[in-house]
Amino acid sequence: MIIGGPASQLLAGRVAAILGQELALCDYKTFPDGESYTQVVTPLEDEVAIIQSTPTDQDLVFLLQLLDICQGKKISLVIPYFGYARQDKIFKPGEPMTARAVATALNPFLENGRVHLVNIHATSIISHFRCQAQNLDATPLLADGIRSMGLEDAVVISPDKGAVAMAKAAASRLGVQCDYLQKTRLSGTEVSMAPVELEVMGRDVVIFDDMIATGGTMATAISLLRQQGARSVYLAAVHPVLTGSAVLKLYRSGVKAVLATDTLDRGVSTVSVAPLIAEALKA
Ligand code: R5P
Repeated sequence: MIIGGPASQLLAGRVAAILGQELALCDYKTFPDGESYTQVVTPLEDEVAIIQSTPTDQDLVFLLQLLDICQGKKISLVIPYFGYARQDKIFKPGEPMTARAVATALNPFLENGRVHLVNIHATSIISHFRCQAQNLDATPLLADGIRSMGLEDAVVISPDKGAVAMAKAAASRLGVQCDYLQKTRLSGTEVSMAPVELEVMGRDVVIFDDMIATGGTMATAISLLRQQGARSVYLAAVHPVLTGSAVLKLYRSGVKAVLATDTLDRGVSTVSVAPLIAEALKA
């Protein structure tokens, strides 16, 4: 049985359809004081797969409620987008390692279970789970989505060193060249990029990254690459967090198209990770 959390209803439905499994009917509400309410209406089976991204604190509470409801069952937990993954280190004294705190809160429910993540921002987070944990890679699906756009003389760029491995994998699948930009984060919403020697003049550039949050990183990269003569700039990202006016920033910067997966259900989520998740759940 597949149980779709409120942040992953469409993806859960797609996974259930691929696997031919029942999709549980659930009820999610918010009380007037802001507290969350969850009910799984369909009677539970002995084995359940819970699919719930955690882009907000409330989504994390919904996930905890689903796990509590499923206590005693064999649980496969899928967290397509794992919130707080960028708080994977203690950057300053007195800070929490929130990604670890989240895993620690989930662990007691997973003693008889396993967890599947998708392109987790820092693979070190996997070690905070006490159960079997797997990091699924959506890069080939995104690369195939880019291939279907039929770009000519394309080059793949990573906006920073952190996404180089992903960009290289995508470039290799597409059979094109790969490079990266040097990024410096100025604040929570601003980044700058030092110009680097890239052969982008007159070419189609595809920037690959694990996520787009405020859009600051990508907007700066798009502007830089366009100044360097790129014919058109496309974005490919696994997790389209897209907070605030991120989409406006990207299109103001001159992006031609944004391609993302449905780890988060947004307008740009045209590549589905459902086949990847279905395969992992079958294993
Ligand atoms: C950072 O290391 C990530 O890979 C992304 O580049 C970053 O989180 C994107 O954030 P924003 O869209 O806010 O610049």
